[in-house]
Amino acid sequence: MRTDQDQPVRLEDYQPPNWLVETVDLDVSLHPTASRVRATLRLKPNPAAPAAAPLALDGDGLTLRSIKLDGAPLAPESYAATPDRLSIAQPPRHPFVLEIETQVDPSANTQLSGLYRAGDTYCTQCEAEGFRRITYFPDRPDVMAVYTTRIEAEKSEAPVLLANGNLVEAGDIPGTTRHHAVWHDPFPKPSYLFALVGGVLGHVADEFVTMSGRRVALRIYVEPGKERRAGFAMDALKRAMRWDEEAFGREYDLDIFMIVAVSAFNMGAMENKGLNIFNDKYVLASPETATDEDYANIDGIIAHEYFHNWTGNRITCRDWFQLCLKEGLTVFRDQEYTADQRSRAVERIADVRVLRAHQFVEDAGPLAHPVRPEVYREINNFYTPTVYEKGAEIVRMLRTMLGADGFRKGMDLYFARHDGEAATVEQFVACFADATDSDLEQFMRWYRQAGTPEVAVTVRHDAKAATCTLEIAQMLPPTPGQPVKETMVIPLTLGLVAPDGRDLPLRLADGRMVERGVLTLTRPAETYVFAGVPARPVASLNRGFSAPIRLTANLTPDDLRFLAAHDSDAFNRWQALQTLAVTLLIDNVTALRASQPMRTDAGLVRALETILADPRLEPAFVARALTLPTESDIARELGRDVDPDAIFTARNALRATVGEGLGAALRDAYRRLADSAPYSPDAASAGRRALKNVALDLLAASGSSAAIAMAARQYSSADNMTDRMAAVTTLSLHPVRERQAAIDDFYRRYRDDALVLDKWFALQAAIPEAAALDRVRELTRHPAFSLGNPNRVRSLIGAFAQMNQTQFNRADGEGYAFLVDHVLALDAHNPQVASRLMTAFKSWRALEPGRRGKAEAELRRVATASSLSTDVRDIVERSLAEP
Ligand code: BES
Ligand code: ZN
Repeated sequence: MRTDQDQPVRLEDYQPPNWLVETVDLDVSLHPTASRVRATLRLKPNPAAPAAAPLALDGDGLTLRSIKLDGAPLAPESYAATPDRLSIAQPPRHPFVLEIETQVDPSANTQLSGLYRAGDTYCTQCEAEGFRRITYFPDRPDVMAVYTTRIEAEKSEAPVLLANGNLVEAGDIPGTTRHHAVWHDPFPKPSYLFALVGGVLGHVADEFVTMSGRRVALRIYVEPGKERRAGFAMDALKRAMRWDEEAFGREYDLDIFMIVAVSAFNMGAMENKGLNIFNDKYVLASPETATDEDYANIDGIIAHEYFHNWTGNRITCRDWFQLCLKEGLTVFRDQEYTADQRSRAVERIADVRVLRAHQFVEDAGPLAHPVRPEVYREINNFYTPTVYEKGAEIVRMLRTMLGADGFRKGMDLYFARHDGEAATVEQFVACFADATDSDLEQFMRWYRQAGTPEVAVTVRHDAKAATCTLEIAQMLPPTPGQPVKETMVIPLTLGLVAPDGRDLPLRLADGRMVERGVLTLTRPAETYVFAGVPARPVASLNRGFSAPIRLTANLTPDDLRFLAAHDSDAFNRWQALQTLAVTLLIDNVTALRASQPMRTDAGLVRALETILADPRLEPAFVARALTLPTESDIARELGRDVDPDAIFTARNALRATVGEGLGAALRDAYRRLADSAPYSPDAASAGRRALKNVALDLLAASGSSAAIAMAARQYSSADNMTDRMAAVTTLSLHPVRERQAAIDDFYRRYRDDALVLDKWFALQAAIPEAAALDRVRELTRHPAFSLGNPNRVRSLIGAFAQMNQTQFNRADGEGYAFLVDHVLALDAHNPQVASRLMTAFKSWRALEPGRRGKAEAELRRVATASSLSTDVRDIVERSLAEP
């Protein structure tokens, strides 16, 4: 946390570093409250910077103990040290060695940035700017150095000592109860990738033989006794390592790869070179404690952090404006990994749901920013859905436009050209342009312009001429700081589906074929005429969600039902159902608000019935198809004057209609999908469980008391957490006696298991009824609740604000006030987690006037609070800025 007066950082102000660091020798002596850090830096002037530049090193809350230059103590007048800066006005003009000794208190570090303690374990988190909380350093990613780390600690307190790279030596310190270990990482890296760990840890060990035949030791460290819960993570790691070799030709480079699971972590996981540190929630899994979703998250996050070894570590970012260079690209890579491991169609649907739920909402509100921002006050606030998810979509569009081969050539060139460097987005895109001889100038606008493009398509069929004409217009709405936009390049994958369900060849009237089914839109409005179309086709547009846009088209409900049943593109089958449902739900929300009756859509119910009855479809896909748009989906599509109560009522009514209309088929599916085999987390089994549990939930939504009994039975007889959690979640939505019994039983069973107890808190925080806020308030006084553990905070406060739309958005504003009280209390302790909670207000302007006023008042209460962190201040000020 820096101070309030900090000036914004601007991309246009980038200057290369004055000084480069060749090597860093760290000597860390661990102590609970007084850890001593000796850093020996070999510095040399940067030939690319002005001669005779002063040396300024970053710090954050540091205490300098001693300083030497080339072995001699520095005279006090030749340097200046404050907690956040160490400067030497006239350093030598040649390479020199600086020895700096600092002392830090890991036990008092509640921000969980720098050197801190997770339980009793010592660990570090340095991205983005945590290294400066350990020692003075040019803490910026374009300063890459070779690190050697010596760690020393009490043997009893920290028998395990780990750092980046390969182990060089280890042993006892004679005459003491202490020991030490020395690690060396030969790959130059930025300071944000530094890590060390010390503690009492158990581990699982395995080995991976790389494609060139090198043996790599694999280790996953966990709390002693939890080793058996790390088996799935190890399996995921090996699959990820193999996949990166096969899909991208990328091989691992050190002798050992380690993962450490810790119980207190601000984020999900961190890709420190050779020593990934994970929130234990994304490592530990057993059938009894983890759901299918947990297993899938572990698989994806282990892969993501591993993939950073090439996209992030070997090639890093020149500055933090380039964050999407590593995060967007690595999200794309983990999405592709999951698609290959599981089901491509189901993975694409899942990814687009996340994109729309988080990124589209961000892009439409006050926190909208380009994938590559041009200014920031607090970099921690830019680890956003836009940088990550939209960043991944940009990479996906490159592949869609260039084809799989062209894309691979571009990636290969990127790795060859920039290995060992700190690169920019321009350099990344230039690799694709050069490798495929393409012009990607206009495409760069995806990085520079915020907002979600709106594309409107009008389809006209001319039976006499046997043509089908598409008129396509694009528009990019204004966003904060960007009132006027330039035209985007939009790769629109499409098909024309003939009445028999087959795709027509995409032949344009001038004879050209549309390659790979991709139209590349580059102008505000364009027209395409397809020939050889005797019968009226249905246009299947933006197949596979080829571009992250909002699409409207003149398709009729019949067209949508036709696509839902026949489209060869599974994504668009799902999309057609969503469009039908959202249209109905929006009509009904409008009706409710005008005190008019809601309508029903028998066609939608029949379309869902057809999907449920189709034996060729994967259960995971059917489960997705039967899941109605969420309350947030509906709010987002409405875009303004949002009344969460009306949305909830309309959605619940539709759930009841579907549950009733499909009753027999759902009961049948529930029985058919019941599994007597032992639990396995594989995608096919998980898909069957997903469909079974969606069926149960829809049956319960229709008000069937038999379904409540089924859920209660499933709760008590389940042999795995997926089925138990699904049952109690369904029960939680109904004010029945079985609900409290299950919630109480859940607590008794799992009170000693922190990760499962998080589920217990989250479950109750999400109950959509008027008593929810009192229940959540009560839970904040539960002995197991604490502001000190980010997972616990997210499971109660975060779940309430994000998963309980009607109760967070209570008309009396009490939900907002509750969140703000806790953000303010947490801010002094852990500003990163506090500021993430504040993003629950990210679409406050879209609310109906009453709630909007209450939300604004609470935002202003934050804005005027004394001693806010930069993190929270930045979010609240941008949230309140005039649009
Ligand atoms: N590099 C990030 C972790 C990080 C984020 C560190 C913000 C410091 C500040 C890591 O690679 C990451 O992206 N983690 C994600 C999960 C991932 C699967 C998207 C996370 O922690 O949420
Ligand atoms: Zn990442």
